[in-house]
Amino acid sequence: MTKALYKIASIPGDGIGTEVIPVGQRAADAAAAKHGFSIEWTEFDWSCERYAETGRMMPEDGVETMKAFDAIYLGAVGWPGVPDHVSLWGLLIPLRRELDLYANVRPVRLLKGVSSPLAGRGPEDIDFIVVRENVEGEYSEIGGRIYSGTEQEMVSQQAVFTRRGTDRIMDYAFRLAQNRKRKHVTSATKSNGIVHTMPFWDERFAEVSKKYPEVETAQFHIDILTAHFVQHPDWFDVVVGSNLFGDILSDLGPAVAGSIGIAPAANINPEGVYPSMFEPVHGSAPDIAGQGIANPVAAVWTAAMMLDHLGEKDAAQTLETAMEAVLSDPASRTKDLGGTANTKVCGAAILKHIER
Ligand code: NAI
Ligand code: MG
Repeated sequence: MTKALYKIASIPGDGIGTEVIPVGQRAADAAAAKHGFSIEWTEFDWSCERYAETGRMMPEDGVETMKAFDAIYLGAVGWPGVPDHVSLWGLLIPLRRELDLYANVRPVRLLKGVSSPLAGRGPEDIDFIVVRENVEGEYSEIGGRIYSGTEQEMVSQQAVFTRRGTDRIMDYAFRLAQNRKRKHVTSATKSNGIVHTMPFWDERFAEVSKKYPEVETAQFHIDILTAHFVQHPDWFDVVVGSNLFGDILSDLGPAVAGSIGIAPAANINPEGVYPSMFEPVHGSAPDIAGQGIANPVAAVWTAAMMLDHLGEKDAAQTLETAMEAVLSDPASRTKDLGGTANTKVCGAAILKHIER
């Protein structure tokens, strides 16, 4: 259901997050104005900088605070000096888990004006979506270590797959495929080596697929699947994977489509009980932070995914069209894409295209 006003929480985070998120916000505002709605942004300073001052990435009631919003727009968190597991488990993971953002969605599309590291591939060859299970699977807190530091030292970590969790991520992938031209879902598995959870994953995939007779299916073991991403990206439409396999594929995917500086991602609660969270794939990029040269396109594409999720399809399309137009011009592309623009110039070009 669309609204006249959306309340969106913005969390720029660390490093280039604070440089690209404002560009995405201005672009979203311009698209909103064009299509007759508006956005009320509330900014939160949750970050490693805040951690250094307060000992927490976000306040204790942080997750609760987010529930009042229609969506969350996040830059990146992580900064040298704060261990990555602290920033991840202090902010991203609690938000993903407690808001039940169980579908992590990353579109992989080779855009015009961007060259793929794969020789001879064009926009018609690379257009798929990776759907990753985002709240259970291999990333569990169950396990432990005993006899630390001795010869008998032993560690174990348990993967957890529930029927509910497995079925709902597969349902999400199939519903997504139903609305796409190719109508095809590939499952990432490893049932030859992992003999309990992955055969279960395969069983559920076969079972859930029966509900979607018009959608074709394929499945590959994760090892050969990564090779196929590189050698046959044209085989894929929607690819569904567990938390770990999906994590790997959702970094490999954007890599074959060119630059991490353009790749968007969404953490979705499909039922809409809680706000969904939208973030570029890239991190805080300490190596270029503060120089004003970060590519803002990933943040803009991410904002387009957010507007699309909120039901504002036309506004989302406006953002995508603007971003593609800008990428085809070297004078408005950033350096990571072989252009000459900085963040400001690229952002201004996107804005100008939206407003015309
Ligand atoms: P990164 O994505 O920040 O950077 C990887 C490389 O890509 C760097 O050379 C960087 O300059 C370049 N790059 C990334 N985004 C770019 C953009 N928009 N324009 C131009 N170049 C861009 O990954 P890295 O270096 O592994 O991680 C840095 C920090 O970010 C770490 O603390 C990590 O934990 C955190 N991180 C956070 C994520 C999140 O908040 N979801 C995701 C990935 C990393
Ligand atoms: Mg990852």
